[in-house]
Amino acid sequence: MKYKIVKSCKNIDFSQVCEILHFYGLSDLDVDTQEKVFKNSYAVVFLLDEKKIIGVGRAISDGICQAALYNLAVRDEYQGNGLGKVIVDHLLKQVEGCNVILYTHPKHIGLYEHWGFSRLKTAYAIYIDEEHYREEGFIE
Ligand SMILES: CC(C)(COP(=O)(O)OP(=O)(O)OC[C@H]1O[C@@H](n2cnc3c(N)ncnc32)[C@H](O)[C@@H]1OP(=O)(O)O)[C@@H](O)C(=O)NCCC(=O)NCCS
Repeated sequence: MKYKIVKSCKNIDFSQVCEILHFYGLSDLDVDTQEKVFKNSYAVVFLLDEKKIIGVGRAISDGICQAALYNLAVRDEYQGNGLGKVIVDHLLKQVEGCNVILYTHPKHIGLYEHWGFSRLKTAYAIYIDEEHYREEGFIE
């Protein structure tokens, strides 16, 4: 599969980023806010098939010891070709030397173990929309 890996927000069409993240229920931010979110992140990865964004992901980090991955998504028709792993690997490379955490939807738990992540036993969170996260099975 031919695609380009882009690790900056320059020339990125954030309406496509919004569309992908909205499609999977990962984020409903408007285009300008989504652009800010990615620009304020420590590391970003976009996969492009010509002008079409086919995969995205980002990491927030102090750049030294701690990092967290967010908004990992690959368009439906491109899934199952190793692209999710490509995005994760390129994010991990950009935060090399850091402890890396993420939280995922309950349905994707096995996926990250498949990719070498270990389950956290002592994680806590304060969510803005706590009820939503409780209903979805993220928190007790
Ligand atoms: C999660 C996601 C990015 C993965 O993208 P992808 O390009 O299909 O992933 P890859 O092809 O790189 O990897 C899939 C691998 O994980 C495995 N896998 C998938 N789900 C799994 C699970 N629940 N448990 C164990 N392994 C799993 C597959 O068998 C495959 O293994 P292989 O590469 O060794 O054959 C994609 O499914 C997606 O965009 N989902 C919707 C958005 C979403 O929910 N994102 C949030 C994730 S936190």
